[in-house]
Amino acid sequence: MKDMDLFPQGGREVVRVDPNFTATGTYTNPSLLSFSISFYIVLIKFQKYRKLIGAKYFNKGYAANAGSLNASYETARDNEGHGTHTLSTAGGNFISGANVFGNGNGTAKGGSPKALVAAYKVCWPQVDSGGGCYDADILAAMEAAISDGVDVLSLSLGGGSKDFSDDVTAIGAFHAVQQGIVVVCSAGNSGPAPGTVENVAPWIITVGASTINRDFTSFVSLGNKKHIKGASLSDKILPEQKFYPLIDAVDAKANKVSSDIAQLCLVGSLDPEKVKGKIIICLRGENARADKGYAAVKAGAVGMILANAEENGDEIIADAHLLPVSHVSYTDGQSIYQYINSTKTPMAYMTHVRTELGIKPAPVMASFSSRGPNTVEETILKPDITAPGVNILAAYSEDASPSGSFFDKRRIPFNIVSGTSMSCPHISGIVGLLKTLYPNWSPAAIKSAIMTTAESRANDMHPIQNGGNLKANSFAYGAGHVQPNRAMNPGLVYDLTTKDYMNFLCAQGYNKSQISKFSAMSFVCSKSFKLTDFNYPSISIPDMKSGVVTIKRRVKNVGKPSTYVARVKVPHGVSVSVEPRTLKFTRIDEEKSFKVVIGSVANNKHKGYVFGSLIWEDGKHHVRSPIVVNLG
Ligand SMILES: *[C@@H]1O[C@H](CO)[C@@H](O)[C@H](O)[C@H]1NC(C)=O
Ligand SMILES: *[C@@H]1O[C@H](CO)[C@@H](O)[C@H](O)[C@H]1NC(C)=O
Ligand SMILES: *[C@@H]1O[C@H](CO)[C@@H](O)[C@H](O)[C@H]1NC(C)=O
Ligand SMILES: *[C@@H]1O[C@H](CO)[C@@H](O)[C@H](O)[C@H]1NC(C)=O
Repeated sequence: MKDMDLFPQGGREVVRVDPNFTATGTYTNPSLLSFSISFYIVLIKFQKYRKLIGAKYFNKGYAANAGSLNASYETARDNEGHGTHTLSTAGGNFISGANVFGNGNGTAKGGSPKALVAAYKVCWPQVDSGGGCYDADILAAMEAAISDGVDVLSLSLGGGSKDFSDDVTAIGAFHAVQQGIVVVCSAGNSGPAPGTVENVAPWIITVGASTINRDFTSFVSLGNKKHIKGASLSDKILPEQKFYPLIDAVDAKANKVSSDIAQLCLVGSLDPEKVKGKIIICLRGENARADKGYAAVKAGAVGMILANAEENGDEIIADAHLLPVSHVSYTDGQSIYQYINSTKTPMAYMTHVRTELGIKPAPVMASFSSRGPNTVEETILKPDITAPGVNILAAYSEDASPSGSFFDKRRIPFNIVSGTSMSCPHISGIVGLLKTLYPNWSPAAIKSAIMTTAESRANDMHPIQNGGNLKANSFAYGAGHVQPNRAMNPGLVYDLTTKDYMNFLCAQGYNKSQISKFSAMSFVCSKSFKLTDFNYPSISIPDMKSGVVTIKRRVKNVGKPSTYVARVKVPHGVSVSVEPRTLKFTRIDEEKSFKVVIGSVANNKHKGYVFGSLIWEDGKHHVRSPIVVNLG
């Protein structure tokens, strides 16, 4: 492990210092671009006396698997963009004129714009089927960060959910949290299937991804006068303001290429004779979205409509394509294919990209955002929270192309990308602000403040949706969408200590040698500890058959003296009561315990997961905890 590229920050901008110095990061699957789970670590320093931005790299674990490495691996510099993007989202300073080809233009900043930041590069190009980020390197980086004295660790990476004692991120995060360092991780990009959420240890803040109220739009007009709204960040416009012939990629297939391959617009699958001067429609899937655009350009297309396959639903993504492109939903794509079938001379026009603000509803859950339930420990509801992770504008490495395509030779200082990699550093930045306000708060108290003040409604005042007008639930957004201002004044917090976490490990049935991976502290497991009593800011009852489950919680007053009353939104099919229903606090840091009694009801017809919430209210604060009950 070598220290690399340390240099003074002074008053310089963190967002866009010398691009060669905004180090770290890579993801490993180019065809997934921003949706691959993220692979890198950033963290934030707040000690006023330190003015260094540091970047280190860790490659010994990688080298042990990949073989000998040449000089291109001996650097913390970012040649991929992911690390620069996530780091500037967490800690970037104010910078005006941030835009991508003029789109989204304005002053940008990270969540903690005055933070000092350090980057730890742990991911390298993928070898064979193996990942590019090795456990040994991730753990080494986390230990280095802990010893460097960071306050927040932001990890936009993951590798599937596994038992905590085999999960290096969980183990490294435990070491950090023991030192009072807050650890924030991405929930993963494997949604919307249930049980896909990763980084599910209770000492980690697990972040899902949702939209913001801004779209990047290119409209498609068809010869049948239909208008369709699509997404794009293309820097090109159609050569003339007129309708162009429209062709299905299947009808443009090159000799000896199958229809299935041509339909996806793989590079070399299209016949230029058939495509030249036309707008081509290509199906999403298989190869990278931007590579389809390259295939279309190579074949002489003037524009491309990118249509979702059925499994992509209405998730459309604004990519920095190489030609005019509009990415449309599955239903819209089907109607375009139908139109092509219905006429001998299909025609289309596409508008130049526009930035649209004030979009409603927002936030909407990203369909790629990994969903609960937590398959490792169901009593811990995950994800914890959701934050902006769709079409996020932040700094980028000019060693990488904005579309992520190898064929794309353009270089720009900012990029707009999507993923839980992007939502994670939003929370990290907010944690930085809370740490500055409340330096003595534990990681659990900070997490509680962020969770209990979150919002479960969108800007149209209706419940947050999953897309397709379907109501989302806590398996998508955890406690809800983050509300940074409210998190500054939560009223009450659900606190946890290392002792609580140790008891949690005991309850996992871990033996001494497994527990020693997490902590060297000598500890006697409490016999009376129950997982349902673990003082988490949300409530998850895994197996509610019949009878009654009583859970315990305690809240700490972090506001003025006040009296709180419990209100419950009762999930279907159960009864919920809170004892006592009133909690009176006379001083700061006073802690009070209460019980929540969840009972089965006669003639219950509900099955599976039911959702509700518990809210402590004093007229000023709404300390809200989601409740999930699995009725089997
Ligand atoms: C280092 O190795 C990589 C991967 O094998 C190769 O692409 C690159 O060109 C090499 N760079 C140097 C400086 O030798
Ligand atoms: C972005 O906005 C700034 C400030 O309004 C303006 O000076 C600049 O020209 C804009 N840049 C682009 C590319 O639109
Ligand atoms: C269009 O026509 C083709 C060939 O007849 C058919 O396979 C396809 O299902 C049709 N598509 C739609 C959307 O109707
Ligand atoms: C502890 O548990 C692990 C995993 O089950 C096992 O491999 C190991 O042998 C156990 N160690 C002891 C000291 O029992």
